[in-house]
Amino acid sequence: MKDIIHELEQRRGVAKLGGGEKRIESQHAKGKLTARERIELLLDEESFEEFDMFKAHRCTDFGMEKQQHPGDGVITGWGTINGRLVYVFSQDFTVFGGSLSETHAEKICKIMDMAVQNGAPVIGLNDSGGARIQEGVASLAGYAEVFQRNIMASGVVPQISVIMGPCAGGAVYSPAMTDFIFMVKDTSYMFVTGPDVVKTVTNEVVTAEELGGASTHTKKSSVADGAFDNDVEALTEVRRLVDFLPLNNREKPPVRPFFDEPGRLDESLNTLVPANANTPYDMKELIEKVADEGDFYEIQEDFAKNIITGFIRLEGQTVGVVANQPMVLAGCLDIDSSRKAARFVRFCDAFEIPILTFVDVPGFLPGTGQEYGGVIKHGAKLLFAYGEATVPKVTVITRKAYGGAYDVMASKHLRGDFNYAWPTAEIAVMGAKGATEIIHRGDLGDADKIARHTQDYEDRFANPFVAAERGFIDEVIRPESTRKRVSRAFASLRNKKLTNPWKKHDNIPL
Ligand code: HXC
Repeated sequence: MKDIIHELEQRRGVAKLGGGEKRIESQHAKGKLTARERIELLLDEESFEEFDMFKAHRCTDFGMEKQQHPGDGVITGWGTINGRLVYVFSQDFTVFGGSLSETHAEKICKIMDMAVQNGAPVIGLNDSGGARIQEGVASLAGYAEVFQRNIMASGVVPQISVIMGPCAGGAVYSPAMTDFIFMVKDTSYMFVTGPDVVKTVTNEVVTAEELGGASTHTKKSSVADGAFDNDVEALTEVRRLVDFLPLNNREKPPVRPFFDEPGRLDESLNTLVPANANTPYDMKELIEKVADEGDFYEIQEDFAKNIITGFIRLEGQTVGVVANQPMVLAGCLDIDSSRKAARFVRFCDAFEIPILTFVDVPGFLPGTGQEYGGVIKHGAKLLFAYGEATVPKVTVITRKAYGGAYDVMASKHLRGDFNYAWPTAEIAVMGAKGATEIIHRGDLGDADKIARHTQDYEDRFANPFVAAERGFIDEVIRPESTRKRVSRAFASLRNKKLTNPWKKHDNIPL
């Protein structure tokens, strides 16, 4: 017995060394942690249980039968994050560059299947040279098996990808189908074709970092949802994110203890909206002042900053927030902000996370760039996402809610449950100046007349009361009481049941 245990420990020791000391050193020299160190940081201490530690590849080409590393370049298993079950895979760059073989894929598929069956998130730590070149099509098949599982798991369990090294070629499409992608600055990149191919085909000279680094994907392409300075920070942030999420689509998000009075009034909110309707203010201030303990977890912070998306808690319960940001492009909706918010709204709806919307929107951004880029279709994504969502929806209009954008931003007409407005709200077809220039076109030469008409329009329509008279606004609330009103609204909606008509699936304008 002793001998067998000794052998077990010896085998475990070999597996734990991955590609060996030298390659581990080289991994560290690049500022990267090893696959096992990452798992240790991600999960609660001593909670990791490994599967398939000894799984070996079956390739016999190119002398591969002589090169065996138990575990085959990926560490898989389950553990807990703050006591809650998660499944994880972590690619080991020290073994064949973390490349994906048939068996490596089988290991990932095994934990994905278990995650779906047991209703727990899948977290993938990606650090891989792509398809195992020696295996050819067997590796491609392995990728496709993972892709199919990403698709089936979508909307069933949260899927989170952390890119912590190379992720190139078709390999990018597994993370691309997960709910959130985090990247580590300077050490990770994602692209479909690398700089060399780009140079050959398009003659563009570009570095890997410029083409697919964390900055590119969080600021330009919006492929990634967050960029962090190093492995430790990225993994810590994944833990924070998981704390906001339900384990699966049949469970409610976790309720955390809270130390913030739900009825807390905040008088500073009474002066948040400036007297001049064109002066911006920071919508994040409102979000933070409403949230339990001011804790706001922002998603896609660096992309389409004219809309803000992220998670807060109210009375300890997770709430998804979508808010126009008047500080950027006056908070207008455009292609990027519509896409960003639509995806977020759909995530929340898929996982039963209630949605709080703060509105200050002057309309859709005009211009050929927007029209040629398909703002009609992209804007419709957000409209569609809000309209199909059946989770509790509470909306607060702080200032402008003009035109079609008023309808889009979780209005009463899209089954908003509570639609509140501050007294500073202006709910109208358009701003007073634009409206006057159309209605009183004949007076355009007379500045005094136009000023008078504009004033008239403002007096009549630049307020929340016309909409409130029709019941489109349930109540005009005092800004200071926003946290209290919104918390109570969500509390009253905890047993909300709303079902859409049966369909195979909808046809959201992609
Ligand atoms: C097998 C691989 C490998 C791969 C790297 N290695 N990528 N082994 N298959 N895909 C091995 C290397 O041989 C090396 O082994 C070790 O991993 C570390 O690689 P280095 O090149 O020394 O590391 P580095 O300089 O950091 O460069 C990393 C790299 C580079 C940029 C990822 O290795 C690279 O370009 N690899 C090939 C990438 C590629 O073309 N992949 C296939 C793409 S097609 P030793 O023994 O020396 O330590 C694809 C299709 C997916 O992925 C389709 C899905 C539908």
